[in-house]
Amino acid sequence: MGRTQTGKHIVPIALAPRERTSFDADWLFHLGDVETGQAQALDVRRWRKLDLPHDWSIEGAISEDNPAGPAGGFFPGGIGWYRKQFTASAEWAGRKVAIEFDGIYWHSDVWINGHHLGHRPNGYVSLHYDLTDHLNIGGPNVLAVRVDNSRQPNSRWYSGSGIYRHVWITVTGRLRLARWSPCITTPRASGGAATLAVSSTVCNETGSAAVVTLRSTVLDSAGRAVAAAESGDSILAGREQRFEQVLTVGDPDLWSPEAPSLYTLRGEVLREGKVVDAAETTFGIRSVVFDANRGLLLNGRPVKMHGVCEHHDGGCVGAAVPDAVLARRLRILKEMGCNAIRTAHNPPSPVLLDMCDRMGFLVIDEGFDEWTIPKKPHGYATLFEKWWHLDLADWVHRDRNHPCVILWSLGNEIREQFSQAGVEIARRLVDAVARLDPTRPATCGCNWLEGEKVWIAPEFDVIGINGGGGGCFQYENFHRDNPGWKLYASEVPHTLQTRGVYQTVTHYRDKDPRGGILETPNLAEPEVFAGIDPNYRSAYDNAYVRTNCRNSWAATKKHDFLAGEFRWSGFDYLGESLGWPRRCWNFGIIDLCGFPKDSYYFYRSQWTAEPMVHILPHWTWPGKEGVQIPVVAYSNCEEVELLLNGRSLGRKTIADKMDLAWLVPYEPGTLKAVAYKSGRQAAEKQYTTAGPPAAIRLAPDRRTIDADGKDVVHVTVEIVDAAGNLVPYADNRVRFEVSGPGRIIGVDNGDPLDHEPVKADNRKAFFGMCLAIVQSTAQAGTIRTAASSDALRGDGVLIAAGHKA
Ligand code: GAL
Repeated sequence: MGRTQTGKHIVPIALAPRERTSFDADWLFHLGDVETGQAQALDVRRWRKLDLPHDWSIEGAISEDNPAGPAGGFFPGGIGWYRKQFTASAEWAGRKVAIEFDGIYWHSDVWINGHHLGHRPNGYVSLHYDLTDHLNIGGPNVLAVRVDNSRQPNSRWYSGSGIYRHVWITVTGRLRLARWSPCITTPRASGGAATLAVSSTVCNETGSAAVVTLRSTVLDSAGRAVAAAESGDSILAGREQRFEQVLTVGDPDLWSPEAPSLYTLRGEVLREGKVVDAAETTFGIRSVVFDANRGLLLNGRPVKMHGVCEHHDGGCVGAAVPDAVLARRLRILKEMGCNAIRTAHNPPSPVLLDMCDRMGFLVIDEGFDEWTIPKKPHGYATLFEKWWHLDLADWVHRDRNHPCVILWSLGNEIREQFSQAGVEIARRLVDAVARLDPTRPATCGCNWLEGEKVWIAPEFDVIGINGGGGGCFQYENFHRDNPGWKLYASEVPHTLQTRGVYQTVTHYRDKDPRGGILETPNLAEPEVFAGIDPNYRSAYDNAYVRTNCRNSWAATKKHDFLAGEFRWSGFDYLGESLGWPRRCWNFGIIDLCGFPKDSYYFYRSQWTAEPMVHILPHWTWPGKEGVQIPVVAYSNCEEVELLLNGRSLGRKTIADKMDLAWLVPYEPGTLKAVAYKSGRQAAEKQYTTAGPPAAIRLAPDRRTIDADGKDVVHVTVEIVDAAGNLVPYADNRVRFEVSGPGRIIGVDNGDPLDHEPVKADNRKAFFGMCLAIVQSTAQAGTIRTAASSDALRGDGVLIAAGHKA
């Protein structure tokens, strides 16, 4: 981009009449309240310097006394202040400057140079303030943010505290596209041609009338212009004007989870032939139809949603989730065959939606967990009547251009669902959302309780069934009794499993002794694996609330009218631990570190085609020689043969079974499963009995990262024996040392009972594994992460951190 000299300042030309830049760097933080924390002159010498996103709860100590209680994972809340001093560039003179917070949890107040910009309680919607009239152009300015998360408990899950998402500054001219413009919908989207409706609002704050042209250009993924439209009008001073344009894209690349093709809409405002504002918005072309008999039709074809419900924390980074941590999580889900995410139970970060657009996930974008009846004493119900309308509008406006978003979910297990009062509220919400986005259906995750009628269900375009519909699996009844209902399983199954833990007798809510785990029902002993801490749960898919993974998916798969299922949950999440001493519980099929549990492979066997086989449990059971151990296999092939020390224990046919099981008298050695497809060996998996811990093995998820102070590498630690086998009981303490341009931002092991700080340079292994997340600095170079432990051979990995070209 060229630059030209005008007077004293260098002014970029052809620029970028609009600049949007990250405002994450160089903030100051103070934990605790400060009487006049917004004052321009304040002694901040003892404040801590940090970059956003930041979550102070995850840095605090877990304590039974913290008022967030089990819901918040016993992490602290409190009040915190942030300040940022910055120079307002002279180039901003005469322009509009706005700040945008992607999310602050919660009850935030924002000041610029002592001027109060606003108060906003909601912790998940994005906040936007106009700074223009209060800036000291060319000189120092102070932004101050007070965050109050002291009234506890206010959430049913770990919320985190602080400015935990990104912050942006947007600078535009005074003749500009309004916030949220353009809005792009695709009234007709098919392989032959797509019709786009583009609605853009132009604001004129120049002080005089202006004749403007609005030019909209559609660019394909290669950057080629494939459609364009121009409209003109005169806009009076201080007014805004909406432009509606219709564009046609011939032979479009349709967006889908398998082929997430994206387009860009470049919106330009021209005055006297000169571009005075320009904004680019990514969108996709796809049609989404819910059908009462055929489920979800995406681009005209039935697609079953393979979904997970996800809370927003990222494990040891708390709520301040670096983009690269989120990207890894989505990769892990994608590899499982997951194609859909329900953002339980709040608007997600914009980053998540950008990634879901690009990686191909269908998203149920959820707004609320409470309306007017509280679930927690200080929860959203205390705010609903005053704030719902603005929160809903900001949420829908922000997210409506994302092709990944297919449903607006207006609630989860809302307490008003069993009453006429709930119907009134549901109508208000459905109506409001339809005005803001007439293209997407509204839904709600409802739960049917014994003897209760769910009054609100028919108010929604598409009905989410939590927990199978009460007593589980009411799908056929609902469909038969309400043939017009469009249905999907919004939250089922709720299963618990701790990585590395196996029990043959389980005792969660349904007290089903065997959990229906085995094909062979008569176990030799009542409990094969005694002595398990009762805070852990068996990974055999036999610890669950109403139904297990296999039976739930079997029921969903059976019915074409059911658009899919969203299990509770994908990843373990902090909080909702249901009691001390757990900081989390184990609803995830992937642990807090991102390590898959056995049920992860069950879903992979059902949701992916690349031949695979998985067996459980591991094969290190000293003292159990001769004991019959249940061995379960998941595979997407046709047959599986199990071999112990080279001897075949039989070949079994999958047919329509969801798992295969053998009872195997334990003897040390190698247990191997071989899967066959069309009679040919297609996949295998084996475990060899491990000896004592001998060494650390590190596995980084990436070898090169960006030297931008944000990117991360996840370093997985395995404790192995002398032959390199994972030692499934190892709990050795591992110490990390990072040298070069990197630093540890979190360590964890997935153990719900481990209260040690996650901001640390060491961690005990849990069932043989732990994790360190290492972040780059702004310096390029080689980051060396070394791991050591008493009496074990250490390991080290080198990661190249480079600047983007
Ligand atoms: C559901 C609820 C979820 C979570 C889950 C745990 O009823 O919607 O948010 O609490 O139970 O089992």
